[in-house]
Amino acid sequence: MDMEVPIYPTVPLSNGQKIPILGLGLSHQGGYSHSALLYALKNCGIRHIDTAKRYGNEEQVGKAITESGVKREDLWVTTKLWPGDYGYDNAIQACMDSCKRLGLDYLDLYLMHWPDANLLSKSAREARAETWKALEDLYDRGVCRSIGVSNFLIHHLEQLKEDCDMVPHLNQVEYHPFQRPQELVDYCNENNIVFEGYCPLAKGQALTHPSILKLAKLYEKTPAQICVRWSIQNGIVTIPKSTKESRIHENCQVFGFTLADEDMLSLNSLHDGRHVTWDPSNL
Ligand SMILES: NC(=O)c1ccc[n+]([C@@H]2O[C@H](COP(=O)([O-])OP(=O)(O)OC[C@H]3O[C@@H](n4cnc5c(N)ncnc54)[C@H](OP(=O)(O)O)[C@@H]3O)[C@@H](O)[C@H]2O)c1
Repeated sequence: MDMEVPIYPTVPLSNGQKIPILGLGLSHQGGYSHSALLYALKNCGIRHIDTAKRYGNEEQVGKAITESGVKREDLWVTTKLWPGDYGYDNAIQACMDSCKRLGLDYLDLYLMHWPDANLLSKSAREARAETWKALEDLYDRGVCRSIGVSNFLIHHLEQLKEDCDMVPHLNQVEYHPFQRPQELVDYCNENNIVFEGYCPLAKGQALTHPSILKLAKLYEKTPAQICVRWSIQNGIVTIPKSTKESRIHENCQVFGFTLADEDMLSLNSLHDGRHVTWDPSNL
């Protein structure tokens, strides 16, 4: 290791695993930077990384893990199953392929990326259930230490509860000051499903909002730090993405201050329902 790095707080899953509350998003949108990921691992104490088959970078991420020298047991790696690989056999194969590309013999978290599902002569509900059965089996085999879903709404989770044995350990959903799906957060809390938020900066849109700029000035922080801190203070696991070392460093400096209750309320009130990525509300 290059230097002493901080250890970030974790959130317990229902199976006792602990996910670091702050991770690094590695979406292909906006590119992937190998050196930035190495910097995050070696210099910023990032121990939670979020990728997906869809992002097309699992192999490079695997190389960065090896090059970083971070011990496997100290790292939390999430990857995701794309709907094109849904169905029992396809899902098992896709998971093994992701592990191979990442150079890992187990995943910390494997997510069904999306609730929409197309399998020949099956409803989307049946296709989700069949696919989830594969994730349950991967969990039983120890290939996935936790399993979850992404972009699932309450009715998808309710159906899965009726159709399957295991409740997902986590649901990864869009979450930022303009998109705070509190009903879904409450549902997840009541059902022991950890809520993980993606796009915490609203893909940059939140960084120029007057209320966020005002709070940044007040706390002598950057708008990005206000957004990441707000997610964390709401108890949400969060995965800001950046390909720039200075921004990754900035996005990690969020544990040395606390937003006052009235400022949390003012940020909470910015919700306008907008999605900065796909809109799952018609599913
Ligand atoms: N499950 C899903 O369906 C799903 C969907 C979308 C995203 N995700 C996950 O969530 C992660 C984060 O989402 P996201 O990347 O879409 O959105 P985001 O984290 O809200 O925003 C990332 C954007 O903000 C910029 N940025 C980052 N830090 C900044 C800073 N301190 N100051 C100014 N600009 C900054 C980045 O540019 P630079 O890179 O140029 O710094 C990038 O354009 C993804 O990487 C992915 O892992 C999951």
